[in-house]
Amino acid sequence: MRVVEVARFGGPEVLVVGDATDPVPGSGEVVIDVAVADVLWIETMIRRGRGGQYFPVQPPYRPGVGVAGTVSLVGDGVDPGWVGRRVVARTGEHGGYVERALVPAKGLIAVPDALELSDAAALLHDGTTALGLADVVQIKPGDRVLVTAAGGGLGALLVQVAHVAGAYVVAAARGAKKLERIRQLGADAVTDYSEPDWIERVREATGGLDVVLDGAGGAYGRAAFDLMVPGGRFSAHGTPSGEFAVADQTDAQARGLTATGIERVQFAPEQFGRYAVRALAEATAGRIKPLIGQTFSLERAADAHAAIEARAVTGKTLLVLS
Ligand SMILES: NC(=O)c1ccc[n+]([C@@H]2O[C@H](COP(=O)([O-])OP(=O)(O)OC[C@H]3O[C@@H](n4cnc5c(N)ncnc54)[C@H](OP(=O)(O)O)[C@@H]3O)[C@@H](O)[C@H]2O)c1
Repeated sequence: MRVVEVARFGGPEVLVVGDATDPVPGSGEVVIDVAVADVLWIETMIRRGRGGQYFPVQPPYRPGVGVAGTVSLVGDGVDPGWVGRRVVARTGEHGGYVERALVPAKGLIAVPDALELSDAAALLHDGTTALGLADVVQIKPGDRVLVTAAGGGLGALLVQVAHVAGAYVVAAARGAKKLERIRQLGADAVTDYSEPDWIERVREATGGLDVVLDGAGGAYGRAAFDLMVPGGRFSAHGTPSGEFAVADQTDAQARGLTATGIERVQFAPEQFGRYAVRALAEATAGRIKPLIGQTFSLERAADAHAAIEARAVTGKTLLVLS
């Protein structure tokens, strides 16, 4: 089978396509014939060797975090009824940028018939995280909510989740084209945070913020933090533009704010599974829809990473194999 491997840390060019022996499922494992592989921004950071304490990966390794496809083989102790079923699952050290993924059977999530495998792959991490974050910050009807990196895979779902919860949603991203796509997802106002006065526009539109869902970090997140009102909830879960926006709790507490970080959405397997099932159900019911902006073949995994790092993507990026 074809696989993508990272032999050393570096730029997108270190993602190299090769051949490997087809996996054979051991006890409690299954093989999924992969149709779609999830790609996350964090993987570009890990590939550069900057995974830090949360993702201490060492090359050589197979990248990829999750796949959607059809179960083709099951190992000992696994219900043979899984064979032929459409599923989505997280992939561990065996990787997800592969034609056949080896995963534990207990991590399988059945994909509802009404849902495309691409939507299921797009929701596996982003949908899980979006619903988890909504529970953390407890969005209430009428809350003024700012989503940064709103044009990313996670951000586009957070805009919808906040809208469904009855919030007044401001979405911040870079570029008119991306902002127009996000407006269609239910944002009440959009702002281009590459413009110097962007946070003033947010102030004019809201008067202050009750909730910030910060997927961008750095200066974007810090500007948003300053605009929060007492009782506000700030989630600092993203770093693409620098570091996490809220480094310590002292300032937040002094202002009567709650600040939480990425650790609140690092779920144990059972809880992850429950959120993932909920995310698929929300999409099946039509309440959320992943914004799949671009897809690449397995052979073009390096182009997918390069596009993400160049900020040239909108919404979710996926590898489509069949
Ligand atoms: N997806 C998850 O399940 C999950 C879970 C926990 C934490 N997070 C964190 O949440 C953040 C967003 O994740 P994501 O999966 O939604 O990623 P994504 O789809 O790739 O979106 C990242 C967004 O960050 C913005 N960005 C700002 N500065 C950037 C830079 N220097 N380089 C690249 N992009 C930049 C980009 O939008 P603009 O160009 O419009 O600014 C882009 O839309 C990441 O920090 C990620 O680690 C995600």
